[in-house]
Order: sequence, then C-alpha cells, then structure tokens
Amino acid sequence: MPVITCIEDLRVLARRRVPRMFYDYADSGSWTEGTYRANETDFARILLRQRVAVNMEGRSLRTTLAGQDCAMPVVIAPTGLTGMQHADGEILGARAAEAFGVPFTLSTMSICSIEDIAAHTKAPFWFQLYWMRDRDFMERLIERAKAARCSALVLTLDLQVLGQRHKDLKNGMTAPPKPTLANLINLAMKPRWCLGMAGTRRHSFGNLVGHAKGVSDMSSLGTWTKEQFDPRLSWDDVAWIKQRWGGRLILKGIMEVADAKLAADSGADAIVVSNHGGRQLDGAPSSIAALPAIAEAVGDRIEVWMDGGIRSGQDVLKAVALGARGTMIGRAFLYGLGAMGQAGVTRALEIIRNELDITMAFTGHTDIRRVGREILVPGSYRGAGGPS
Ligand SMILES: Cc1cc2nc3c(=O)[nH]c(=O)nc-3n(C[C@H](O)[C@H](O)[C@H](O)COP(=O)(O)O)c2cc1C
Repeated sequence: MPVITCIEDLRVLARRRVPRMFYDYADSGSWTEGTYRANETDFARILLRQRVAVNMEGRSLRTTLAGQDCAMPVVIAPTGLTGMQHADGEILGARAAEAFGVPFTLSTMSICSIEDIAAHTKAPFWFQLYWMRDRDFMERLIERAKAARCSALVLTLDLQVLGQRHKDLKNGMTAPPKPTLANLINLAMKPRWCLGMAGTRRHSFGNLVGHAKGVSDMSSLGTWTKEQFDPRLSWDDVAWIKQRWGGRLILKGIMEVADAKLAADSGADAIVVSNHGGRQLDGAPSSIAALPAIAEAVGDRIEVWMDGGIRSGQDVLKAVALGARGTMIGRAFLYGLGAMGQAGVTRALEIIRNELDITMAFTGHTDIRRVGREILVPGSYRGAGGPS
C-alpha cells in the first residue's frame, strides 16, 4: 500500500482503480478545460506571508456554516454518479463526513438515494437540487429531503444547460457502463471496483429510478439533463423553492457580483462562488479569482463560500483569507473515494485539515475565523478592482 501524503497521491491511486469512463468523468472540464485548469493554477499563484515568534498554541479550525457547527470550513460538494467511483460511494462519503464533523451534500444525480443515506447515517446531511421541468417530481424530492431530515438544501443555478465534456462523449459514459468490448477490457483491469459493484444493488440514479416519470433513458446523464433540466429558471423560481423548502437554503454557481446581489436579496442563507469545477462555462474566470469582489459586495449580507480547484488545506486557507466563510470540495473527495472508499475520504479530509492547520500556524493565526487578507502577499491575488 503506497504512503498517501497529499490529494495528488489519492488522485493517482483513483486513476488506477476506477474504470476509465468514471475517472475521466471526474477529472475533466468542459471544452478546452481552460477554466478547469485555472481553478487550480490561480490558487498556486497566491502567496502566503510567514509570521514568526507568535504564540501558535491552541489552534481552532471550527466554524459554523449556514448555522451548522463544522470541524473546519469544508463541506463535501454534491457530485453526480459518486456511487460509480466506488460501490455505495455516497453512503461511504456521508459516513466519513459524519465521523469527521463536516457536512455531506448529496446530489440529485446520485447513485445512492436520499433514503439510503438517511438509513446509513445519524447526522443530518444536505441535499442538492436541480430546477427541473417536472414540478411534481421536484416537490416530491423536496418532501423526501425533509423526511430524511436534511438540514440544508443546495440549489444549483449553473446547470440548466449542460457544458460539453469531450471525454464523456468519447467514453460513451453511462451508469452502469454498457457491456461494449472496450468497457469490458477496461473493467477487467479494475477487479477491486468490479467486486465492489457485484456486492451492491445500487447501480443507477437512486433518486430518479422509480420516482421520475417520462424519462426515456435512465442510464444517461446527458439525456436526463436535456429532457428534464428547465432552462427557464428565474429568481421567482428560487423564491418558490425557498418557500417550499422552508429551511436553510444555499445557492450554488454564482460568479458575478450582480447575481450575488440578487442572491442576497432572495433571502438565501449562503451562496457558493462556483463555476461547477470548470465543467460548465469554459472561459469563465477561476472561482478564486471571482471570489474577492463578490465577498466585498455581499459578504456582510449573506454567507459567501466558494468551490473549484481546492486540492489542499492551503487552498482552503487562501479562500478564507479572500472572504470565503466556507469551501466545498468535489474532486479532492472523489479521488479519496475512488482510491480507498470510506478510508480514502477520511484520508482526504485529514490531509486538508492538517495542511490547513499547519499553514494557519505559519501565518501567525490560531483561529480560522480571524484569518483575513493580511496573510496574503499583496499583488499575488486579485482584489475587487480586477487583476493586481
Ligand atoms: C464528477 C463531478 C460531478 C458533479 N456533479 C454535480 C452535481 O450533481 N450537482 C452539483 O451541484 N455540482 C456537481 N459538481 C460540481 C461540484 O459540486 C463542485 O462545484 C466542484 O466539483 C468543485 O470543484 P472541485 O472539483 O475542483 O473541488 C460535480 C463535480 C464533479 C467533479
């Protein structure tokens, strides 16, 4: 067993263990993947300032996100088809998050269902919703999330049309995989994954199968999205969701100050500055570049979080320094899961926590809630007025 010291180690192991179409589904962005790459490289450009001879004892990473106590300012992001990275992946991810003390968000497009997660965890989890044409189905999803005692609803605003990811088309990605010759050859090289899948009945979209009407091909994410995701989504619809749900509401996929102001007006509890991990609008700026202006504009009215490109605890600290109260991790979580199941998710969270804790100490802070821009080298990040 290799020694795992960073998220990159988990990515390499996941690539070895997860069938190619699902590994590629995670490790890809839309079109040129320019925004996908920028999410990571823009973090790397931000420089930290070291302080010395400051008492660094008794450090705390604890914070609250949307009223929920969290061991660190990190939430597991909603990711579709997670149960294809590893058998029962969403259950394993939710269990790891629960034990660690951070929220887990279940995607509408998950393999394990809302009820599956509720049956296998004690802590409340969060549910992510897409705005769909079938209002009845959406209302039932909201009711199911309430019945499962989900403590927040994450409404994703940036996927009413689907960005094209070349690899998914080339791989003919479906859940479960179709038994083509290429797939069978690839699966033969992934015995651990196959064994896991043979031991579970959860192989397709758990929240949809048996619940959604009039969907012609359940196995295809693209088909479902084209048929069901409603491109007419408006702020009135957000108000409708808020009223129907009645609990904590988080709006995900905000990249512009103008939209952030509308989101704050909507009465939601938090926004996530996000470009969907570079999977939607290729050519958009990185999330970390978009964050400072948004945090400055609305940070006193609504909790501002961010996701996209976080591969270390240092990235979390940089996001916090630039005004994010919380962060979400997508791929860092999926790589851990694909590499080693629940233990891999725990390892990913531990790595991020340790890096975050030690880096915070180097910058002379002991409480994550007090960290601000003073820890960053001026000129190495974008301020509200654009590149500096
Ligand atoms: C494989 C994959 C599937 C995703 N599925 C969803 C989804 O179902 N709903 C959603 O709101 N966001 C989804 N996202 C976006 C994530 O929630 C998050 O915004 C993104 O992964 C953050 O970037 P990171 O992966 O660099 O951390 C997905 C991301 C990935 C990588």
